[in-house]
Amino acid sequence: MSPDDLPDVLTLPDGRRAPDVASWNSLHRPELLAWFCNNAFGSAPTAPPMRLATALPRRALPQGDGATIEEWRLHCWPGSRPLHMAIIRPPGRVPAPCVVGLNFTGNHSLVGDPGLVVPEGTGLWGPPVAKERGLFAPAWCWKALTARGWALATAFYGEIEPDPDDHERATRPWDTLSGRWHEEGLPPCGAIGVWAWLLSRLADVLTADPAIDADRLAVVGHSRLGKAALWAAAQDRRFAAVVPIQSGCGGAAPVRGGIPGTEQVADVYGARPGWFVPGYAEFGRDPTATAIDHHHLIACCAPRSVMLCCAEDDPWSNPLGQFAALHAAAPAWTLLGAAATPPPELPPAGSGGGSRLRWWWRIGPHDQGPAEWAAILPALAAELNQGR
Ligand code: GCU
Repeated sequence: MSPDDLPDVLTLPDGRRAPDVASWNSLHRPELLAWFCNNAFGSAPTAPPMRLATALPRRALPQGDGATIEEWRLHCWPGSRPLHMAIIRPPGRVPAPCVVGLNFTGNHSLVGDPGLVVPEGTGLWGPPVAKERGLFAPAWCWKALTARGWALATAFYGEIEPDPDDHERATRPWDTLSGRWHEEGLPPCGAIGVWAWLLSRLADVLTADPAIDADRLAVVGHSRLGKAALWAAAQDRRFAAVVPIQSGCGGAAPVRGGIPGTEQVADVYGARPGWFVPGYAEFGRDPTATAIDHHHLIACCAPRSVMLCCAEDDPWSNPLGQFAALHAAAPAWTLLGAAATPPPELPPAGSGGGSRLRWWWRIGPHDQGPAEWAAILPALAAELNQGR
């Protein structure tokens, strides 16, 4: 697939082309975000004041070389169940740049500290369990992060927004279609939209923390949580960088193209309608009916840093389509006067390239682990740490 197979990223479906920065910011980007609200993820309401409580006071991490861990209980709306956010801070760097992300298995599974809560809720592999303490540390590699001076802020994605295979199980008291709060009834859909909203709530806490560098928040997520990370960054400019890992259909992959072996909207919507609004199924039936595709979602992050991570043995998440989408999004960076160069040719698996618009792919299957962090951390340092 070539970038030319995708519609011009600067032109809205009604034919208006963004002539300058002002119209991109005041008209085009808001219209694109509204399109993705209406046709993919749903709308989220303005956040009410959050209630915060300490779940685990800050303490040194065993074998952490001076890194600390703490856990916070966030009540994101009146009466909400708590969302537990762990913050791991590096020694000797204040304020610290921070990687922000939702995890699949619970904070307790990423760090071997017995004080971390085993969260409620349910996710891809069901409810988190205590015997998994520390078991999935390689997914977030906190030691590699803190060794490079990064903090990590993370929360279990299914704690207050369970992973639905239908529209039935969500707990948030708002309607993702209208973005309005309501007191009764279940919201129709849009779990990805809620996860993205929760990422912004983590950003609320982090940007108010003087020991975190609010100008250097990088949102990272894998697979369905990569879709959520991209949607969060598209909407929330406080994320200076976004790294969707193997986010695929509903994330950084275009819907157009129909490359054999890649996931199509009918597949993802058929399996997980509760992630989206119903309009997404219609979009999938005939993507050419509108001059919008997922490179527009990437473009909503301009002029910030975007790094797409893929995997050679994960054709389902459509690496070649994502590579084309990265290129097709680039004119938005040019319009905004930001030097951004995706790698001109697809790099060999196990390598990457580009600047501001980066690409990297692993040798191997669908996964998030040390190989990702070995590529992501130097890239984030280059993108966000200049002058430090
Ligand atoms: C399925 C789904 C993908 C999704 C992935 C995941 O494979 O088809 O769209 O990204 O699950 O989140 O693990």
